[in-house]
Formats: sequence, structure tokens, C-alpha cells
Amino acid sequence: MQSLSAFLKTAAAVIAVLFCSTICFAQQARTVADFDKGWRFHLGDVSNAEKMTTADKNWRILNLPHDWSIEGQFSKDNPATPEGGALPGGIGWYRKTFTVPASAKSKKLYIDFDGVYQHSDVWINGHHLGFRPNGYISFRYELTPYLNFGRANVIAVKVNNSEQPNSRWYSGSGIYRNVWLVTTNKIAIDHWGTYITTPQVNNEFADVAVEVKINNAAAANAGVTTRVYIYNTDGKLVSGGGTVPPATKQGDTVSILKTTLKVNNPHLWSVDDPYLYKVVSKVFDGDKVVDTYTNTLGIRYFNFDADKGFSLNGKPMKILGVCDHHDLGSLGSAINTRALERQLQILKAMGCNGIRTSHNPPAPELLDLCDRMGFIVMDEAFDMWKMQKTKYDYHLYWDEWHKRDLQDQLLRDRNHPSVFVWSIGNEIGEQYSKTDTAGRNIARELAGIVRSMDNRPITSANNDPGTANNLIASGALDLIGYNYHEFDYAKFHERFPGKKFIATETTSGLETRGYYEMPSDSIRIWPPQWDKPLIREGNNVSAYDNTRPTWGSTHEATWKVMKKYDHLSGMFIWTGFDYLGEPTPYTWPSRSSYFGIIDLAGFPKDIYYMYQSEWTAKPVLHIFPHWNWEPGKMIDIWAYYNNADEVELYLNGKSVGIKKKTGDDLHVMWRLKFEPGTLKAVSRKNGKVVLTKEIKTAGAPAKIELTADRSNIKADGKDLSFITVRVLDKDGNLVPNAANRIKFTVLGGTLVSVDNGNPVSHDSFRANNVKAFHGLALAVVKGRETVGSIRVTATTAGLKPVVVTLNAK
Ligand code: GAL
Repeated sequence: MQSLSAFLKTAAAVIAVLFCSTICFAQQARTVADFDKGWRFHLGDVSNAEKMTTADKNWRILNLPHDWSIEGQFSKDNPATPEGGALPGGIGWYRKTFTVPASAKSKKLYIDFDGVYQHSDVWINGHHLGFRPNGYISFRYELTPYLNFGRANVIAVKVNNSEQPNSRWYSGSGIYRNVWLVTTNKIAIDHWGTYITTPQVNNEFADVAVEVKINNAAAANAGVTTRVYIYNTDGKLVSGGGTVPPATKQGDTVSILKTTLKVNNPHLWSVDDPYLYKVVSKVFDGDKVVDTYTNTLGIRYFNFDADKGFSLNGKPMKILGVCDHHDLGSLGSAINTRALERQLQILKAMGCNGIRTSHNPPAPELLDLCDRMGFIVMDEAFDMWKMQKTKYDYHLYWDEWHKRDLQDQLLRDRNHPSVFVWSIGNEIGEQYSKTDTAGRNIARELAGIVRSMDNRPITSANNDPGTANNLIASGALDLIGYNYHEFDYAKFHERFPGKKFIATETTSGLETRGYYEMPSDSIRIWPPQWDKPLIREGNNVSAYDNTRPTWGSTHEATWKVMKKYDHLSGMFIWTGFDYLGEPTPYTWPSRSSYFGIIDLAGFPKDIYYMYQSEWTAKPVLHIFPHWNWEPGKMIDIWAYYNNADEVELYLNGKSVGIKKKTGDDLHVMWRLKFEPGTLKAVSRKNGKVVLTKEIKTAGAPAKIELTADRSNIKADGKDLSFITVRVLDKDGNLVPNAANRIKFTVLGGTLVSVDNGNPVSHDSFRANNVKAFHGLALAVVKGRETVGSIRVTATTAGLKPVVVTLNAK
């Protein structure tokens, strides 16, 4: 796909050809500048830090996005508690000094924050711009009236994450998403000022309805006109150019212009082919272009049917999704686009096609990636309403802020083709109330807000999917959202005749990557009592899919039901990735979750391959566990496979039997006495070998291997390479219980973080070393803003250092 700048150039050229004689392009219409660089930071409160004159030269210099919690030490005594990730919170101050040229006097300037966790106050030159309590919402302030043109200006931001617990998972602290400085003319498209929908789509044509909100702060007189253009991915104009009725300049007014464009033979957006158009809105003052605003557009249609489930562009399919929190493992909550993209690539390769942004609005980059990579998003607003879940959470701000926050989420996110469903809340306390109808009224109010702004379906994620649940009983939901209760899915229509179903949250299977306990075919229900953490040596959970909490299921149990019934439109598994906090079934010393199909470092657990064998067409054969056990011990060997009729297992060359999945089986299993050597599995279809997999008894660690996920990265100071370390024996076999401490040195770049996926480790993610966990470790490396090579060296006691070289281009 061509880059945005190349696209815009092509678009400008096309328009210039069309209007070259009359239109002047000399005027710079709108700039959106990355405002992340060169901030000063102070951890702890400082009096008068909002004042321009306050000295900050001794404060730390850093670039945003920034999460100070992830830099701290794990402790069970941190007020976040292990549920919140056991890292510190507190108060932090950020300041940035910048100049605006005198020539900008005729412009309007804004600062856009994508997200600050939480309770942010912002000042410009000592003037208080506002307070936002919600840590997940994006917001803007206008700077123009308070700026010193041609001289220094100071933005000060106070972030207060000191009242804890305020979250059931790790939140991070700070300006953890991007910040932008936006400059426009006095006549310009408003903040989140376009709304693009496709009221009619079929194979022959699509109607594209475009609403443009124009903010007119110029003096009275001439007419303002707008033209809207649609380009395909090759930059070819496919529709548009017509003039939308003029709005008269009046000074300080907002007018909404509406037009409908036709795209013939539209290339439809789907999860396998996420084709994107661009919609360019141009505002003219007379014959001058005063603003240009670009949106991506995905043309698609979809339906949730009570009986037949979900279909996209007329084709029935299931939403095969995962829930994820916003942290990026060892990077904490500081948003990094490449880290998000890597997560989505790993999920895509598993066959996943959906994301639930549990339980809050995500970083805007996540939705951009989902548009581009083909994911169906359930965009969720809240984890609580008026009733608290933790003492200091958003319930304290509900009355004053929920309307504004929900509207802002909708305004920001409703142009994304990847957004298919709005969720107005997760496991909301008000669902249970028997005596008052507050839950019903709030549900109706929230759904009303959403409906007044968009027509996509509305749901809520209910842990009590009964008819008495106030959210369901409110009648305000388009889709009845079930959290768990897979044993009830088949009877959904007995309870809710004619209604539409979505599994908003499922499963909650528990696993530690690389750790196995036999027998594998007995289910552990951990913790046995839902509100009391399990106390158990080692804080590990077996990676056979045989552990679940009281409210959840194993992965296989839910998927077996889900695949059976058409009316089940889709599911969102708890969770795609392990996340910081909520260390069910344990508590401290655990500090991160066990729910992920993929661990915190991004290494898939075995269950990943069950989904891959079911959700993708590519041939899969995955056998586990490892083959290093005490002689004589009875071991269960599982295989996930597809595209084959059978799997035969051999131990040291001798067949131990052929197994076939029968009925609704999702794996096969052999139980045999361990003897060292080679375990080999062969999958066959019609007698022909499809795949072969071998696992050998590994010897002592003899070498380390480094593999970079990408060896060419962008020299933009943001792009990352994720380097996997594998501890191997002399023959190249992974040593399954290797725990060697690996130390990294990086020349020409920066070591950003280290991890190993162990939920019990208390080492800092910011150290230059990490212990391997079940043979694997991870280093995350960032390039500089200059072109050059980056040399990453890994050393461990007694073994030869290993180097991997990356290029920043
Ligand atoms: C759900 C809840 C999630 C998470 C999960 C753990 O009930 O919605 O946020 O707590 O349980 O199993």
C-alpha cells in the first residue's frame, strides 16, 4: 500500500489538474504535528508547577508516550495491589516549552491528547484548560487565546493516579498515548468533524454519505464551500468533486454539510481483504483551499441475524475474537504502534478476526491497525457505571462525565470500518439491582446517546445473562451479550425468543507457557472459591487446556459449543495476550495474568495451535509437552492438527499408535512412559504425509539463539524489533526448563525492555538482563532517528556471546 504522503501528493495532483486554473494551493491548510518530543517530567507533586516561571531544568527529559508505573518496582504493597499489576502510581507532572511563530497569529491551535491515565489537568502559560478524569478518553484543548506568538509557551500537565485501587487490571500512569499539535485556519473542519457512513452497499454500487462539520471563526462575508473526493488505494479518484451547498461565513459558527457520493463496483472491506478507500474533504473560502481533511473508508455491509448469526458482505461467518487490555507487556501502557501491530499479526496468524477493547476506548492506532489488517472490533466504553468495582474508580466521576466521554468515544471512533459493535459496559453492577430501575434507565440513556450518533449495534457484556438483568430488561440492547455461560448458549432462544446473540466474553482458560502437570485430562477449577486466591507452591498453571476459574470454561469446551450453532454470531475469548494485573488463580507473588492464549512476552502457549488448527486453513500439527522428564514417569502427549485424517506417534522410532479425532474432539492424546530420545508425530491424509513434528530430549544449555522479528526497522526513533532468545543444547534443541540469565548490550540503538512471560518474575522490565523462562526470553530494541546498523549482543554465563544486527532505515 502506498504511504499516506505519497497518496496525498497524488490526490493533490489529481485535484490540481481538475482545478488548476482557479485554485490556489499555496496556503498551508492544516498541520497535525507529532508533539511527543522533548517533555520534562517530574514524579511527585510540585506546587506551582503549572506556572510558566517554575523552573523545570532539573526535571527529566523524555519523549512521550510515557508510562511511569512500568519503570517502578513490583511490590505487593503498592496501592494498585497485585490485581492492578503491583506497580507504583502516584502523581506526575509533565511540561513542554515550545514556540509558535508570529505568523501563526491568523491560525487556530489545538493540543490533542489521545489518552492520559488519569485525572489530568492541563495548563497553557498558567491558564487552566481543563480536567479529564477518564484515563482512556481522547480530548482536545484550544490554545489560541493564551499563546505567546513568536515567544516561549509552556504546556503543563498534572497526572494524578495516586488514589488506588481504581482499576481491576494494570492501568499504567502518565501521558501514555500520543499528543498532537493541530494548526488550522479560522475556517476549518471541526474536531472529529466528519462522519462517513455507507447507507447502501451492494456489489454494483455503494452510497457514501459524508457529513462535514465546519467551524467558521472568520469574519463575515463570502461563501464557504466544501468538496468531497473518494480515492481508491491506487490514489485514483473514484467519486466526488461536487460542491456541497455553501455555508455563509458568519464568524464563530459551526455548520454541518451533508452530501452523498456514489462508488460504482465497490471493492468491499472484509477481514481477509481489508480494502480501504480515502475520503478527502476540502473546504474552500472563495477559490482558496482553507482546509483538507482525510478519512479512511471501508465499504462493507453486515448483519446479525437471530437465527443465522453474523454475516459480512452477505457471507455467513463467525466473529472469532479475543478480548485484550491495553498494556503492551514489558512496554507497559505506553502506546507503540509497532508493538500493537505485532500483537495483531500474532493473532491474525492464529485465525483470529476480532478484538474487544476491554473495557475501555482503545488507542486510536489500534483502530487504524484493525481497519488496515482486517479485524472486527467491539469498541467498549465502560467497566462500571455508578456502582463501583474498586474504591476510586470512575464511578466517582460517572454523573458528571459519562455523557461527554461516551459522545467523545463515538465521535472519535465511528468512522472506523473495523468498528462493528458498541459495548456500553462490561459486567455492570447495576444489572443485579432488584429494587430500583437505575440500571435500566442508564442502559436506555447510554444506548440513546449511541443511537443518536451512529446506527451500529449496541450490546453490553453481561455476567448474568438472565431476563431479569436490568441491562437486558431495559430493551435497549440490539445484541444480547453473554459473558461465559457456554452451557446455556444452545437454549438462548428459549430464554430470548427472536433476539440476537453475541458472546461478549468467553473461556478464561488458565495456563503458564511451557509448564505441564499430569494427568492432563482432569479439570482443575481454580481458584475453587471465586473470591479467594489459590495458595500453591510455584504459582504455575498447567498448559494443557485443563484449568479454568469457577465462572469460565476450558478453551475447548466453549469452542465446541460455539462452532455447533449458527445463531451464535461470534465470541471474544478472555484473553488474546496475558496482561499485567489480575493474576487469577493466584495473587502475589504473581503480578500478571494467566488468561492469555499468548504470554506477556508474545510467545504463544500450546492452546494457540488448537485455535490455529480450527480457525485457519493452513496445515497445523502441534505436539506437546517437551520431552525432558524423569525416566518411567507417565506422560500425556497431546496433538492439535488439521487437514489430516490421523496422527501417528513414534517414540525412538517405534510407533506408539495412530490417533484420530472423533466426534467433536479438538485434540488427540497418547499416554506413555517416558524414555529419553525422540518423539515424532506424523499427520496423514489419505495415507499421504501432511506434516511431521519431532521433539527430542534436550541436553544441557550449550548455546543461545537470537531471532529478530524484523531486522530492518524504520529510523524514526519509534519503530521496534522484538528479539527472541532461545536457549539450546549442543544439537539445537530448545532446553525446556532453561533459566539462564541473559544480558544484552545494544550499540546504535536502545534496549527498551526485556521479558520472559513469567507471571511471577519481579525483575524490572527495564533491566539489561532477564532470565530465560522455559527456555525463552525477549529483548525489545528501538532504533535511533538516524540511519545505521544496530548491534544487539546477548551473553550468558559459560556460553558464547551471540550477536544479531539490525538496520535502521
Ligand atoms: C470477567 C471480566 C474480565 C476479567 C475476567 C477474568 O468476568 O469481565 O474483566 O476479570 O472475568 O476471568
